[in-house]
Amino acid sequence: MDYLSITGPSRLGGSVTISGAKNAALPLMAATLLCDKPVTIDNVPDVADIRTLLKLFKKLGSRFTFDDHTLVIDNEAIDNTTATYDIVKTMRASILVLGPLLARFGRCEVSLPGGCAIGQRPIDLHLKALEQMGAVIEIKNGYVVATAPEGLQGAHIIFDKVTVTGSENIIMAAALARGKTQLINVAKEPEVVQLCEVLANAGVTIEGIGSDELVIHGTDRAPVCFEPFSIIPDRIEAGTYLCAAAITYSTVTLENVRPDHLDAVTAKLHEAGCRVSAEGSAMTLHPAARLRSFDISTTEYPGFPTDMQAQFMALATQAEGVSIIEERLFENRFMHVSELQRLGASIHLKGNTATLNGPIQLLGADVMATDLRASSALVLAGLAASGVTNVHRIYHLDRGYEKLHEKLKNLGAKIERLSE
Ligand code: EPZ
Repeated sequence: MDYLSITGPSRLGGSVTISGAKNAALPLMAATLLCDKPVTIDNVPDVADIRTLLKLFKKLGSRFTFDDHTLVIDNEAIDNTTATYDIVKTMRASILVLGPLLARFGRCEVSLPGGCAIGQRPIDLHLKALEQMGAVIEIKNGYVVATAPEGLQGAHIIFDKVTVTGSENIIMAAALARGKTQLINVAKEPEVVQLCEVLANAGVTIEGIGSDELVIHGTDRAPVCFEPFSIIPDRIEAGTYLCAAAITYSTVTLENVRPDHLDAVTAKLHEAGCRVSAEGSAMTLHPAARLRSFDISTTEYPGFPTDMQAQFMALATQAEGVSIIEERLFENRFMHVSELQRLGASIHLKGNTATLNGPIQLLGADVMATDLRASSALVLAGLAASGVTNVHRIYHLDRGYEKLHEKLKNLGAKIERLSE
């Protein structure tokens, strides 16, 4: 197994190009199941989660090519509507094929995703909404067996909680349903917005795009046809590199980003004493003279993103004073705490709130990645720590960061990818 060996403290400089957003590409790939013609998608990040979903598509009978970040996918000959456990267990976002498969084919079997390191992450809201649209949902032998032989019927659906992939699943299902679907309390993440925009460009009438209430006029099972499109930049990858610059007191420019997708992250970096300037699709982090402590409460977009919580915790170890970080979306998204403590961080955990005292001179050590964003936090801490930090189990990182060690190395980090 590979690991990353980082020698700190590092100073970074120059610019880094941000890849397409994994969490936009996954639902948009699933949405191609609503089409019976080839679809061309540009700026698709070449990360493990994308490769995993393509493995599932291959099993469904999809044909595709994926070269140099361009995916051409043809689902005309799909002859299997079962998403098997072996794939779904490795990537829970595979659940995103449930809505489109059911809407297009009237029947599908998708393995229950099971738990995950950061929390139980049920899919009850996905299933409840599909039942409201007339689907019959059974749970058998660990699979969701969904049928809607007469197609799905538009419905008035209120989500009890804001759910990103739940919203995406139902938006895709509603696109091919009969009649109008009204969604209340729908997620507003940029990735959800792009899904709506691509569907709207394909002729699906959607009112309220970007708000928490959508009205979707379905095509009554007429397949949709997507014009070629490009995946939006990854705001979480961008936020991670902004934190890398902040924690190493470096000036770094990010290319190919959407600054407007990072308002909450930018605001928090300003609070910490940094300055972020934006020019078109580029952002530059100007470091603080001394990092100041800050408080964070994760919430749905456009609030502070839970996917940036771990990275800012690493940053808080270097901030002067007491920082308080509250994780409100997931019940177990503090797996990085004990690993940061191995590096010397002063963190007190009580329930879903972490209290940090800083600044602490971190000392390099062996640490273990536990989930995607926790892994990136350990890399950031390794850049600030003095000595060598080895981050193990970086298959977690490979799920959502393209060429992370190469991009950091190009910025001047002393980082190597080695094998155990
Ligand atoms: C998406 O996960 C993202 N993944 C996650 O990013 C992200 O952390 C999360 O949204 C929150 O922003 C993708 O987009 C592929 P949710 P998702 O449904 O959709 C509860 C990463 O780092 N809930 O919005 O699975 C759930 O337990 C990943 O790239 C239910 O109770 O998250 C959680 O507490 C990690 N019932 C809350 O809602 C449901 O049916 C938000 O979950 C669905 C969700």
